Amino acid sequence: MADNRPIGVFDSGLGGLTVLKELEKVLPKESFVYFGDTGRVPYGSRSNETIISYARQDENFLLSKGVKYIVAACGTVSAVAADTAKDLPVPFMGVVENSVKAAVAATKNNRIGVIGTSATINNGAHKRKILELLPTATVTTADCPLFVPLVEEGFSAEDDIVVLEVARRYLAPMVEAGVDTLILGCTHYPILLGAIKKIMGQGVTLINMGNSTALAVKEELKALNMISEEESATKEFYVSDITAGFAKVSEILLGEKICDVNLVDINKYEGSSNRD
Ligand code: DGL
Repeated sequence: MADNRPIGVFDSGLGGLTVLKELEKVLPKESFVYFGDTGRVPYGSRSNETIISYARQDENFLLSKGVKYIVAACGTVSAVAADTAKDLPVPFMGVVENSVKAAVAATKNNRIGVIGTSATINNGAHKRKILELLPTATVTTADCPLFVPLVEEGFSAEDDIVVLEVARRYLAPMVEAGVDTLILGCTHYPILLGAIKKIMGQGVTLINMGNSTALAVKEELKALNMISEEESATKEFYVSDITAGFAKVSEILLGEKICDVNLVDINKYEGSSNRD
């Protein structure tokens, strides 16, 4: 039986639109409700306690929209706050697990790199999971805090000297360690793919967490008999602040203009009342 209810996708802001883009590619008949916490972004420099309480509110909001499944598109939430999903009444997927599986499958020399926000890298979730699956792996990690604002300012061209210089500095430990596989552990990094490829070299496999997660969501929906058969799937966008840069940044990240966006008072979604 088909399940045409929407899939809920959330992120600390608009970065999760890169994950939504991948989900739409592999699940064309699904409807989506996207929530971006634009009023409280970034999460990547906040404490674990704050990230966990924000993630719970974001999930509660999506539940109030009647979603059948929740995807935490945010690398930081997936690394730090995946436990908030334990009492959800719907299936949940973060972006860490499947990017790790894809990296472990791709590496030939067992040297894997992970880049993400400071909170993601300090948490170490990727490294722990890589070592569970591949105990002989050498894992090199680095936080790249300037990548997010660069992308949001529209600095992303692969020949942009500012981007290339920042990438060269951040990625130096990866090049030095000889990683053959690099997990792009943050929503914004796929936009910098060209520049990252230039620094890392063609021989290094770059793992796009949106793509690996979208394929896993599809598999799980199939297994649960929850795939939609909707011919006219819809997309709804909600944010906690409509910022001046909204139109520009959302177009950079999604690759299309968002014409209709709704404002949410996210603080109203405290607690666990709708988790039964
Ligand atoms: N969406 C965040 C992530 O993927 C990046 C932006 C932030 O720091 O909130 O980790």
